[in-house]
Amino acid sequence: MKYLSFSSLLFIFLCYHHFGDHAVQAQPNITGYTCTPNQTTYPCQTYAFYRAAAPDFLDLASIADLFSVSRRLIAEPSNISSPSSPLIPNQPLFVPLTCGCNTLNASNIISFANLSVRIKSGDTFYHVSTVYFQNLTTYQSVEIVNPTIVPTKLEVGDIVYFPIFCKCPNQTQLQNQVNYLVSYVLQPSDNLSSVASTFGAQTQDIIDVNGNNSQPFDTIFVPVARLPQLTQPAVAPSVPPGPGNTERRGVNTGLAIGLAICGVLLLLIGGMLIYREFSSKRRRKMEIECEKQKLQYNKRGNGLKDMEVNLMADVSDCLDKYRLFKIEDLREATDGFSQDFLIQGSVYKGSINGEVYAIKMMKWNACEELKILQKVNHGNLVRLEGFCIDPEDGNCYLIYEYIENGSLHSWLHENRNGKLNWTTRLRIAVDVANGLQYIHEHTQPRVVHKDIKSSNILLDSNMRAKIANFGLAKSGCNAITMHIVGTQGYIAPEYLADGVVSTKMDIFSFGVVLLELISGKEAINEEDGKVLWASVDGILEGSEERKVRRVKEWMDGVLLQDSCSMESVMSVMSIAIACLHRDPSKRPSMVDIVYALSKSDELFFDISEDGSSPRQVIAR
Ligand SMILES: *[C@@H]1O[C@H](CO)[C@@H](O)[C@H](O)[C@H]1NC(C)=O
Ligand SMILES: *[C@@H]1O[C@H](CO)[C@@H](O)[C@H](O)[C@H]1NC(C)=O
Ligand SMILES: *[C@@H]1O[C@H](CO)[C@@H](O)[C@H](O)[C@H]1NC(C)=O
Ligand SMILES: *[C@@H]1O[C@H](CO)[C@@H](O)[C@H](O)[C@H]1NC(C)=O
Ligand SMILES: *[C@@H]1O[C@H](CO)[C@@H](O)[C@H](O)[C@H]1NC(C)=O
Ligand SMILES: *[C@@H]1O[C@H](CO)[C@@H](O)[C@H](O)[C@H]1NC(C)=O
Ligand SMILES: *[C@@H]1O[C@H](CO)[C@@H](O)[C@H](O)[C@H]1NC(C)=O
Ligand SMILES: *[C@@H]1O[C@H](CO)[C@@H](O)[C@H](O)[C@H]1NC(C)=O
Ligand SMILES: *[C@@H]1O[C@H](CO)[C@@H](O)[C@H](O)[C@H]1NC(C)=O
Repeated sequence: MKYLSFSSLLFIFLCYHHFGDHAVQAQPNITGYTCTPNQTTYPCQTYAFYRAAAPDFLDLASIADLFSVSRRLIAEPSNISSPSSPLIPNQPLFVPLTCGCNTLNASNIISFANLSVRIKSGDTFYHVSTVYFQNLTTYQSVEIVNPTIVPTKLEVGDIVYFPIFCKCPNQTQLQNQVNYLVSYVLQPSDNLSSVASTFGAQTQDIIDVNGNNSQPFDTIFVPVARLPQLTQPAVAPSVPPGPGNTERRGVNTGLAIGLAICGVLLLLIGGMLIYREFSSKRRRKMEIECEKQKLQYNKRGNGLKDMEVNLMADVSDCLDKYRLFKIEDLREATDGFSQDFLIQGSVYKGSINGEVYAIKMMKWNACEELKILQKVNHGNLVRLEGFCIDPEDGNCYLIYEYIENGSLHSWLHENRNGKLNWTTRLRIAVDVANGLQYIHEHTQPRVVHKDIKSSNILLDSNMRAKIANFGLAKSGCNAITMHIVGTQGYIAPEYLADGVVSTKMDIFSFGVVLLELISGKEAINEEDGKVLWASVDGILEGSEERKVRRVKEWMDGVLLQDSCSMESVMSVMSIAIACLHRDPSKRPSMVDIVYALSKSDELFFDISEDGSSPRQVIAR
């Protein structure tokens, strides 16, 4: 670390020294591009040019996950009409970035989009930078941005922040109609004039911004007034070798895994209990344990060998990713699970080695939640950190990241923290929608949360929302259940009537949460037991004037005093009403909702602007 820091300083020094006479171009491009923190145009919305690539990035979903944006936000600027269609290698895309000027310390002030990546097996700083992000960042810069992580000791499941290089135009450039500086990685086959013609820019303008000494695989910034229209391949390959074919198999295996995994977990847990006795060479032992089980499984034959291998991969992956906590540590952290540490239900707050966690006590029914959580990884879902089995009573504990600001329910209805303003509420809606879109669209098989409600939506220190409590969640396709679970006031009518489980039931519950955000009222009225969603019947009928009047009467008075935009409220209201359609097939999908919410919100691009303190989020 010391050596690296010194060499980067040296590098910066050399750069300044060497290119000192043309100040603009003199940017250390290995560790990042410098910026002026005073420049008022930061942060800004910008784009990176990205090429679809085999094997992992041939669909918008995986690229969208990598960059933590929705598929629509890539499809639109890239001139792709259907976000779900497969891509071909090298297909050009524009990926949106939120670009900020970050003061890492006095000598490192660089502009980048801060993207988090959960490390998978085999990932290194270099591999993720050069392959996943295609040299839009460098491992040297990643090291600077993650000073506490030792690159040679990366573990599966670690969260690493990758600084994706970007720049915001300054005032002068904006006046000259340069609205974006698009991040572009120079290819060996490029020259500046070919890049200029691709983007409809002037070569000299590119040189003015980047200097004339750019090397292949350097990130350069192409100044443009608007994004050029990309010409996409007319027909995507008819039968994509990847997703299309494997989809069905994926679902089947998924279901099979679903059925078998609980059993295997039991076995593994048994194994763990045994292996806990031998303390030191944990990992090694675990591998042996897994091998043994694999053998046992394979002996049974049944032609299911493939599936079992997958299954083992799945489970050992899960064990790799999560920490095994000791029951003694949990006891100590919560003072023997005392009431003082209870957050709600069976969830306790406890700190272990200085880290604060939420600890959920469960009986043996932890399987389903574990199974689902190991599949999901998204900024708007509460992250599982590890688990623990108490060898004495067989209780299972799931340990989650602790979310500082508590539930949306308490902010909206318990009135202890002051009232949220409209911008914050809208931002929360977008966050929840993004989280739901992820579990509905990007997991295989799809996950249905089944219990979306304001008390399962938690707010972090920046008032960004995360979905919690996958205790009732189901993965798999449409299914019918016999015993109805969920929460009164949020349950979709068709589920109540027929037990039909589908993503559309989450959409309904999300509609109720939107109503709560707009009205500040509870989903079910404590006094008369009436559900909130019934109170909006016909509210959007009649003339424009009448609609606005009725919504104004119905909505949270605090918002009116805060003079929020009625247009924005009306548009969220109409999304809520669409979600609450009695016929599940008429409800919009989460993709549509995310799109509509971000459209309805002219603030959308400000959303990632960081550091909003709790005071700013409260209505005055
Ligand atoms: C800034 O950060 C670099 C790399 O992390 C480090 O080497 C350097 O000492 C820091 N400079 C100051 C002034 O803290
Ligand atoms: C940036 O702002 C600080 C104070 O806010 C000021 O001292 C400094 O001179 C400014 N730098 C530039 C380049 O404008
Ligand atoms: C990147 O984002 C994470 C989480 O939002 C934050 O903790 C971290 O400080 C950010 N890094 C920088 C350099 O802004
Ligand atoms: C990134 O740069 C390295 C050389 O620095 C090169 O070998 C690699 O092919 C580049 N990756 C991509 C995706 O262009
Ligand atoms: C740039 O590349 C194009 C082909 O890609 C070529 O026709 C052109 O001559 C090159 N220009 C320069 C200045 O090298
Ligand atoms: C804006 O950026 C351009 C190009 O990098 C530079 O020439 C110009 O001096 C900058 N203007 C201001 C006000 O910083
Ligand atoms: C690059 O810039 C330097 C200094 O501005 C100049 O001397 C040189 O001729 C330029 N090279 C090209 C190829 O334009
Ligand atoms: C950084 O940019 C300079 C020109 O501005 C170039 O000479 C140098 O090779 C670049 N370094 C890397 C690692 O790309
Ligand atoms: C957008 O893509 C279509 C093909 O998907 C193409 O026909 C059309 O020309 C593209 N638009 C522009 C402006 O290039």
